[in-house]
Amino acid sequence: MNTVELMEVMKKRRSVRNFSSEPISKESLERITNAGILAPSGADMLPFTFVLIQDQQMKERIREESEKVDVAFHEGLREGLKGWMKAKKITDEKPFLTQAPVLLVVSGDTSMPYWLESTWISIAYMALAIESEGLSSLTYTPTETGFLNGLLDIPNNFSPQVILPIGHTLERLEPKKSRPHEKVFWERHGCEKTY
Ligand SMILES: Cc1cc2nc3c(=O)[nH]c(=O)nc-3n(C[C@H](O)[C@H](O)[C@H](O)COP(=O)(O)O)c2cc1C
Repeated sequence: MNTVELMEVMKKRRSVRNFSSEPISKESLERITNAGILAPSGADMLPFTFVLIQDQQMKERIREESEKVDVAFHEGLREGLKGWMKAKKITDEKPFLTQAPVLLVVSGDTSMPYWLESTWISIAYMALAIESEGLSSLTYTPTETGFLNGLLDIPNNFSPQVILPIGHTLERLEPKKSRPHEKVFWERHGCEKTY
């Protein structure tokens, strides 16, 4: 795969908040989690774990707890962000947590060096692998994640960072556009290329 092809995958990957219940193959899930493990990590420590959840009852408990912790967050939102969330129809209700056939919880081992950076790089690798599998996802970050340690027996030195609902979607979102002129500078911050 060349860079142009890789960027096509990156552009097509969009956050999806509606899933169908169509199942996902074990092979697909294996390729996705393998992609996460192939990511670079500080001192090659792989300071993360992945928990795949298919059990509907567990998904319901996760949804219930996530909605509880997100209520306060949504109530305290600044006006600007409130408008953005409303436009995107993001509320404290999280139906995608019970719709998607699989939830993937990614946790970082806080006792390891560079655990946070490494964990998020692995999440990014998996987000792209999910797209290449023809599946969709969302990097859902509940405002508080301690309840996941309790529900999923995740040891206390691990900090759950994200819940990735994974599945098929009927949403058809536009691919992203590159915007390098807004973010890339030359020689000094704020300077555009002059030649
Ligand atoms: C670190 C991070 C945290 C996010 N947390 C949430 C979240 O809690 N809930 C949600 O609906 N979307 C969440 N998102 C998704 C973003 O809103 C989304 O990536 C952004 O609007 C860009 O849209 P795109 O993913 O379709 O390119 C998160 C994304 C990132 C990278």
